[in-house]
Amino acid sequence: MALPANFLDELRARTPLPALIGRRIRLARSGRQWKGCCPFHGEKTPSFYVYEDHYHCFGCGEHGDAIAFVMKNQGAGFMEAVEQLAAEVGMEVPKPTPEAAEAERRRFDLHAVLDAAATSFQRRLFLPEGARALDYLRRRDLSDDTIRSFGLGWSGEGRGALAAELSREGIEPGMLIEAGLMRPAEDDRAPSDMFFGRVMFPIRDRRGRTISFGGRILGDGQPKYVNGPETALFSKRRTLFALDLAREAARAGATVVVVEGYMDVIALHQAGLAGALAPLGTALTEEQLEELWRLSPCPVLCFDGDAAGARAAAHAAELVLPALTTERSLRLATLPAGEDPDTLVRRHGAAGMQAILDAASPLPEALFGMLRDEVGDGTVELRASLSKRLEAAASRIQDRSLAWEYRKFFRLRFRERYEPPVRGRRDAAAPIRRPRLGPRPPLAAGNAVAEQARNLLAILLRHPGLLSDVEEAFGEVALPAPLARLRAAMLEWSESAERLDSATLMSHLTSVGLAAEAAQALAATPNPLPLCAAPEAMPAEAEEGWWHFFGLMHRSRLDEEVAQAVHDFERRPDDVAAQRRVISLRAAQEALNRGEQGMETDR
Ligand code: UTP
Ligand code: MN
Repeated sequence: MALPANFLDELRARTPLPALIGRRIRLARSGRQWKGCCPFHGEKTPSFYVYEDHYHCFGCGEHGDAIAFVMKNQGAGFMEAVEQLAAEVGMEVPKPTPEAAEAERRRFDLHAVLDAAATSFQRRLFLPEGARALDYLRRRDLSDDTIRSFGLGWSGEGRGALAAELSREGIEPGMLIEAGLMRPAEDDRAPSDMFFGRVMFPIRDRRGRTISFGGRILGDGQPKYVNGPETALFSKRRTLFALDLAREAARAGATVVVVEGYMDVIALHQAGLAGALAPLGTALTEEQLEELWRLSPCPVLCFDGDAAGARAAAHAAELVLPALTTERSLRLATLPAGEDPDTLVRRHGAAGMQAILDAASPLPEALFGMLRDEVGDGTVELRASLSKRLEAAASRIQDRSLAWEYRKFFRLRFRERYEPPVRGRRDAAAPIRRPRLGPRPPLAAGNAVAEQARNLLAILLRHPGLLSDVEEAFGEVALPAPLARLRAAMLEWSESAERLDSATLMSHLTSVGLAAEAAQALAATPNPLPLCAAPEAMPAEAEEGWWHFFGLMHRSRLDEEVAQAVHDFERRPDDVAAQRRVISLRAAQEALNRGEQGMETDR
């Protein structure tokens, strides 16, 4: 059966197992997997589970991958099943040749070489020669459990020690070169070690087999990391560090999050965020995105809060457009400037990191912000270019109904920002009619005031663009101590922030130690948050909602605000912001006049 392993891997990856099995039996979603009645034994209640790459029956124990399913279901032979599946996904089955068999055998041998090297590096870490490396890892707060589960090691000082050790197991230097562990001989110099004087990070494939290594220098020095070269087993653009571990975690419900470095991944796993993984120091590739979508329909990309991070985020957002579908998207999270996930969890704990992930922007939102930052919006010409760029971005989405939704979203956002809500002059004193969305349930009695205050904070955390409009009124609200601290930090931030967006605000709050307070303000308990506090609420909706809750707490101040806004508007009837202010303030006032206590929630 001399088919190349990468052909079979590719075939399995391209075959959507739920669709394949769904042709034979009825499947229903059950969390991240699918569930149905086992086709291989009679049963009335479903105990047959289908995962992304395998199936398992908890009734009869039958299990396997796509190839096994076709063999079992149709009584087909292995090659027959492979031919059938390949035809369905448009792949050509390579002819089994003696060369292929030989290549396959060598791949197998290479795995054995890399395993032997990994074992040697791990052993050396705990020998006297590895003491400095072990001390380095411990000073970076890694526990022995973490060191073991990532298989970290010490390369030794070089000079052929690895080759000497492995030759005792019959491994030739030629194999070490093929495995990417030694450099080939040059001129009259003998083959030399690829890694020496470095902490070793095994790089594993999705099934947990070691395929290469990264090595970090102890302390400062260049290059900081060395990665193994491309080999028969290791392709950098197809590999994600910790994919094997993140895949397990994703199955158990962990958030899939892409970070930039080895140490970031390891620190997040140690903090309990085991869905973390990373490319190998290069920009994210299409192959890596495909791999990510097999773990989660909407992974979070987390970039450093510097210019390079912003460029990487923009690159990823553009790259992904053609491949988006209704089941494949992204969210983008931003870290505070000067932090990476490793330093962030050390300083602010898993809760701090979780707050950043929770504040990640959905892709359409992130794209709007990035293109606006890139193009600018200060003049009519710039706004026209921005509008074109947004259209162009939406057009690159191949899924037509999704492209349409993006377009609609961009246009709405654009209008919200740059066009008057109502054209021409209108009588500011006339009542403004607004479509009603449904009944608004009252808040739970008892802690109503506390919840109103919390809603005010939640709306601003999700829509910090409102801060400058409500600043004065916000400053006067009586708040319990944790919320008051949050308010002080938010107002201070808004004075100097370049971009008033939620992700940036959340990362700032985390960096000043207020992650827990922010999380509490955004919690769905004790009461669900109003829809106007949702990230996808339109700014005008958020603004009206904010004044509504403010009015519940300080009715007479709201009436003063309305009078002031009407006055401002009458003096400057062409000022779009003044007009919008009147509209949202009056809408809030009218809702209160009708006796509404709460606002629509999603529960
Ligand atoms: P960073 O410089 O952000 O590294 O590079 P890091 O993970 O935070 O490392 P520590 O905390 O200083 O130990 C991010 C990633 O870029 C690749 C590595 O994959 C690294 O994890 N890189 C970086 C290289 O390949 N070579 C280098 O010299 C530096
Ligand atoms: Mn780091």
